[in-house]
Amino acid sequence: MCGIIGAIQKKGEVAPFIHQALKRLEYRGYDSVGVTTIADNELYMKKDKGKIDQVHKKLDLDDLPGSTGIGHTRWATHGIPSMLNSHPHFDCSNEIAVVHNGVIDNFMELRRELKKKGHQFESETDTEVIPHMIEDYMKNGYSLEEAVKEVALIIEGTYAVVAMCTKEPGKIVVTRDGNPLVIGKKENAVYVSSDIPAFLPMTDNMVLLLDGEIAVLTVDDIEIEKLSDGERVDRDAIKISWTADQAQKSGYPHFMLKEIHEQPDAIRNTLRLRDEEIEKAAKMIDNAERVFLLAMGTSGHAALAGRHMFASLGGVLATSELASDFADTVYDTITKSDLVVAITQSGETTDTITAVKSARQQGAKVLAITNVVGSSITRIADHTLITQAGPEIGVAATKTFMVQLTSLAQIALKLGEISGKPGTDELEKKRESLHGLPDIVSRVIATEEEHARQIAGLFYDSPSMLFLGRGISMATAFEGALKLKEIAYNHAEGYSAGESKHGPIALVQDGFPVFFVAPRDDTRSRIIGNIMEMKARGASIISVIEEGDDELLELSDHSFAIPKGVEPEFTTMAYVVPLQLVSYYMATRKGYDPDKPRNLAKSVTVL
Ligand code: G6P
Repeated sequence: MCGIIGAIQKKGEVAPFIHQALKRLEYRGYDSVGVTTIADNELYMKKDKGKIDQVHKKLDLDDLPGSTGIGHTRWATHGIPSMLNSHPHFDCSNEIAVVHNGVIDNFMELRRELKKKGHQFESETDTEVIPHMIEDYMKNGYSLEEAVKEVALIIEGTYAVVAMCTKEPGKIVVTRDGNPLVIGKKENAVYVSSDIPAFLPMTDNMVLLLDGEIAVLTVDDIEIEKLSDGERVDRDAIKISWTADQAQKSGYPHFMLKEIHEQPDAIRNTLRLRDEEIEKAAKMIDNAERVFLLAMGTSGHAALAGRHMFASLGGVLATSELASDFADTVYDTITKSDLVVAITQSGETTDTITAVKSARQQGAKVLAITNVVGSSITRIADHTLITQAGPEIGVAATKTFMVQLTSLAQIALKLGEISGKPGTDELEKKRESLHGLPDIVSRVIATEEEHARQIAGLFYDSPSMLFLGRGISMATAFEGALKLKEIAYNHAEGYSAGESKHGPIALVQDGFPVFFVAPRDDTRSRIIGNIMEMKARGASIISVIEEGDDELLELSDHSFAIPKGVEPEFTTMAYVVPLQLVSYYMATRKGYDPDKPRNLAKSVTVL
């Protein structure tokens, strides 16, 4: 949520890099953008409301002098998207520039005090208090670093802050608490950003900055210390395994489509996770008295599917909980015998991090499944599985969902091994099916993509749709509906097919689209009953079925065929693919950009 970047180069103008880095961060927010540089002891700034390309066309974001600069692409929290509310924000004398991601809870009070002292505010944002506070300290003889330290100790809430000042050109000071910041380093340049892809084309050397730390960046040095006691932190750079190419569209019109096509490889790579890692995760589950799967959004649907996999293969009852509601429901009952499994592609979702921290306080153990090395969740968890999707740029999660499911499936198989319940042959059959999924997903994309485009063309203007499934297919149906809402803005509801007759069926009339996720598993005969109920009321039935299931083919107005050989526990991974493609093609048919859906962001770092 909000993309921030800072960069210092030994020579050459930095603005074109900042502009490109912001483009790579645009999935974090895109209602306004701004760039500020320092040259000849002066700040140069350009910012406005709108997506980066629009603002660049108007202002030319590349045309700013100087080799030190910062930039920001915004997802509004305090103050509407407008030129004045865009970051960077400045002090009264335009000597200090700040970009910020997060929310400052005590900004009203700070703003009041600063106004009393005569500070002039231009925006409605919480962020603007920061440059004014820095200004006050610097007037009293503090260095930029000392001033940022003082400010960090006063502001409450969550933040990642990047600041620079004309009095100390060639230097950027950064600090964080609750919002991500990573530092990139190469000879003759240093970068800081809220996410790795921003500087990936320049360097794959990353230095982590942790909550409660402050770093002073110059082109030759990175100095990190703890805010609490000033203790110096020596931290080695780590190599990022992602490549810059992975963060390009590579000829696809959108990242989302590219990422859907990358799913077979993403599964393949995640299946290579070390057995010891999976075993450690499975043992944590096996040893726990109760297991809570915590997640939000698409990851929540992976949790729901994981619950089924754990029960069916491992005989383990886990509950899946929305992280945002965890504190208000089961929190009081959590003990040290419990385990929470946090599933989060970004590793930064505040709802999830907050729930996990609170469970930890009660003594629970934490297992994390995330796609981002060094993300916040990895530092809270006792054990982390890093899924191997590579960078996902499209805001609507696709391949990260797939790899979450893959690692949950691996854990479930290991639980089966530990419990010995499914039997060796049975487990082997399941394992083979899981390892066959990359090929199956490739075939689904190859055979069903054009079909998905046609279905999208038939139903894109339907104001409302239902997505129904039973058992694990509920997770698939929920995800299908979520994708459609997120990027095509059609109202869509994912529902238990069993529950659908207790309400949603009232919506159904002639031509009302109802998607059924109907693999050939134990739920099939009951799903047929639900299809009949919907048909009897005039619904248009669009089903995702197993290849050769003639009975369901006949009952459906339209259907997608999934190759045979997918075991019931893994159907979500194959059956969700046509639904992802339908959403993609509905969004593009309606002229929307599926990579940047309105009001959404890739990682949501507010509560
Ligand atoms: C946002 C994204 C979703 C994602 C959700 C949870 O809403 O737009 O795609 O599923 O956050 O994110 P996480 O990083 O925790 O998986």
